[in-house]
Amino acid sequence: MKKLIPVIILSLFSLFACNQQPAGVVYSGTGKSAILDNMITRRAIRKYTTQQVSKAQIDTIMKYSMYAPSALNKQPWEIRIVQNKQWLAELNNRFLKFAEGKTFQGSAANYKKPGFSIFHSAPTLIVIARDKNNPISYLDCGIILQNILLSAHAIGLGTCPLGTLVPVMNRDENRDLLEVLNIPSDYEVAINISLGYPDENPPVKERYADKIKIID
Ligand SMILES: Cc1cc2nc3c(=O)[nH]c(=O)nc-3n(C[C@H](O)[C@H](O)[C@H](O)COP(=O)(O)O)c2cc1C
Repeated sequence: MKKLIPVIILSLFSLFACNQQPAGVVYSGTGKSAILDNMITRRAIRKYTTQQVSKAQIDTIMKYSMYAPSALNKQPWEIRIVQNKQWLAELNNRFLKFAEGKTFQGSAANYKKPGFSIFHSAPTLIVIARDKNNPISYLDCGIILQNILLSAHAIGLGTCPLGTLVPVMNRDENRDLLEVLNIPSDYEVAINISLGYPDENPPVKERYADKIKIID
């Protein structure tokens, strides 16, 4: 692993490089309607083309996502954008090793199939780590997660949150993978996101409107 020099794009430092309009913009309309449409047309994408996401696109996603609110504005996250194929292949191998003899729900249930990828073969993986000493960091990381999903969708890219990988990445035996990403020792993985050009158009999943009640 030491030989790996991952291409980790730390876009948070590139705020001012994103004035140009990225390719594949799906935003239409203006203001309110565009924002509301963006929220209801996003889907979890589990099939991607092989086309890599550009640095400019990542800059755009991060520029907007980092405006997520956080308790006391602590921003208790560390975010890494990984495009290094060796690191990604190794992560998938670690998942497969972890999965041996276990059963899973959802797409992870297919882990024995040839060519299986726990991150849906997306060309880019975003790792969101949380400050372990800040109990509310889970919530803050969830908010920036959603900002990333929506801003990626707004520029025509697809995403899928990946909870299944979290316990694998936080195992002691896999700490070397996080060290390559320079994740501080008092941080742990909260959630991951696959990112790429969508190669499917999934239907909307059912929403449970009865879980929301107005008390007047
Ligand atoms: C916290 C979280 C963890 C998730 N983990 C996974 C996962 O490990 N693998 C996966 O394929 N989808 C995962 N998903 C995607 C959900 O299955 C998906 O968002 C849900 O079915 C609703 O579909 P939609 O996003 O298309 O509206 C996760 C979503 C969230 C919010």
